[in-house]
Amino acid sequence: MLNIKNLHVKLEEEDKPILKGVDLTVEAGKVHAIMGPNGSGKSTLSYVLSGRDGYEVTDGSAHLRGADLLGMDPEERAAAGLFLAFQYPVEIPGVGNMTFLRTAVNAQRKARGEEEMDAATFLKEVRARARDLQIDAEMLKRPVNMGFSGGEKKRNEILQMAMLEPRMCILDETDSGLDVDAMKLVADGVNALRSPDRGFLVITHYQRLLDHIVPDVVHIMADGRIVKTGGADLALEVEQNGYADILAEVA
Ligand SMILES: Nc1ncnc2c1ncn2[C@@H]1O[C@H](COP(=O)(O)OP(=O)(O)OP(=O)(O)O)[C@@H](O)[C@H]1O
Ligand SMILES: [Mg+2]
Repeated sequence: MLNIKNLHVKLEEEDKPILKGVDLTVEAGKVHAIMGPNGSGKSTLSYVLSGRDGYEVTDGSAHLRGADLLGMDPEERAAAGLFLAFQYPVEIPGVGNMTFLRTAVNAQRKARGEEEMDAATFLKEVRARARDLQIDAEMLKRPVNMGFSGGEKKRNEILQMAMLEPRMCILDETDSGLDVDAMKLVADGVNALRSPDRGFLVITHYQRLLDHIVPDVVHIMADGRIVKTGGADLALEVEQNGYADILAEVA
């Protein structure tokens, strides 16, 4: 599904390498988690995959279902099935949440040569998915993320994901700032989307999330590289002992 090889990335503005050879393969149907100390490059990886400006790939490759991601515009990446739930969701003043969702869904369908979703079907779908995430009707009418609480923004990201039905979902600390009930809702939302033809990359600091979204594989990222890969028990080890032992082991 997602194949990243020897990915090296630096900031465009300055000669600061951030990713220093990331190798990562997420298979269809699998949930991979990435943990790692602050500043290790987890968000940078997700930004580079989604096509955000400001980063320069100096070496390596990233493919989504065989297609070269790095050669595509952000919109093309989305149409190809990539979705990123941001660590810091952006507010979009003046654009209603529902309008935004419908435009995004239909733009992607069009790019894939599919028919647009008609208004009635869209409304039915969005209401059902919003209900599952306990996002009320009023929040669907407000401008995207404007005035939403931290936890409401995170749930709204999952609503977008559910509506877009991407093939590869990257969640960057979607659990941060969520109360325990909201975390359960978000995890249920993610689990409902787990399927044999969809992959997930879940970036998190907390093992707690992984109790709900049980990962197939856990990676530890440090200083721009994946330094250790294991099963769900690796997250438990981090929770109990922190990163010191792992970092010393690979140093
Ligand atoms: N635009 C930028 N300007 C300067 N430094 C940057 C920029 N973008 C990223 N960095 C640096 O790159 C490194 C990796 O940042 P990144 O946000 O990817 O870390 P992270 O693993 O997501 O951390 P966290 O767990 O705190 O979210 C950090 O040292 C950060 O300061
Ligand atoms: Mg981050």
